[in-house]
Amino acid sequence: MEDKASVRAEKQARLDALAARCAACTACPLGQTRTNPVFGTGDPDASLMFVGEAPGEQEDLSGTPFVGRAGQLLDRYLYAVGIRREDVYIANILKCRPPKNRDPLPAEEDACMDFLRGQVRIIRPAVIVCLGRIAAMRLISPDYRISAEHGQWVEKGGFLMTAVFHPAALLRDPRRKEDMLKDMRSIKEKLDSLA
Ligand code: URA
Repeated sequence: MEDKASVRAEKQARLDALAARCAACTACPLGQTRTNPVFGTGDPDASLMFVGEAPGEQEDLSGTPFVGRAGQLLDRYLYAVGIRREDVYIANILKCRPPKNRDPLPAEEDACMDFLRGQVRIIRPAVIVCLGRIAAMRLISPDYRISAEHGQWVEKGGFLMTAVFHPAALLRDPRRKEDMLKDMRSIKEKLDSLA
């Protein structure tokens, strides 16, 4: 049987190959305006994967997802519930920043989805958590209502899935922070129950 280290190394090599294809992608115009592609980061063998919307300014500059203010808030929730960021994998629906952080266009999402599908196929997480409405509408259901449905668990395509408020939404509306903490605790409990 393969040991954990060799599984991780093999998955990382496959992710690196996919990231190289992403860096050369010309499937939509965003590749021309971005600074860096933001492919994804974390444990290639993670049981928990977070999927956000699209890179913002700091992510575009650094090439790493969720490193700006929203990302720092996400880090605080991870810490609060006892999940180490290095143990999860974090990616976005779009790998390139939309100008002025506008919402992704459906055509851009369509053009980019093969990269996320590839990441999920390689990592094979048990649990996928959508960060915000855009990811939930793409991955869970097109009519997903984040205010009403956040924190609810669904099984789809062999994955356990849920969505939480996007950390940027929490920065705009701190009243949602209590709900976020509750949802993050539920994610930690779900992970522990699968271990
Ligand atoms: N918002 C996102 O959805 N993704 C990031 O990587 C950063 C901010």
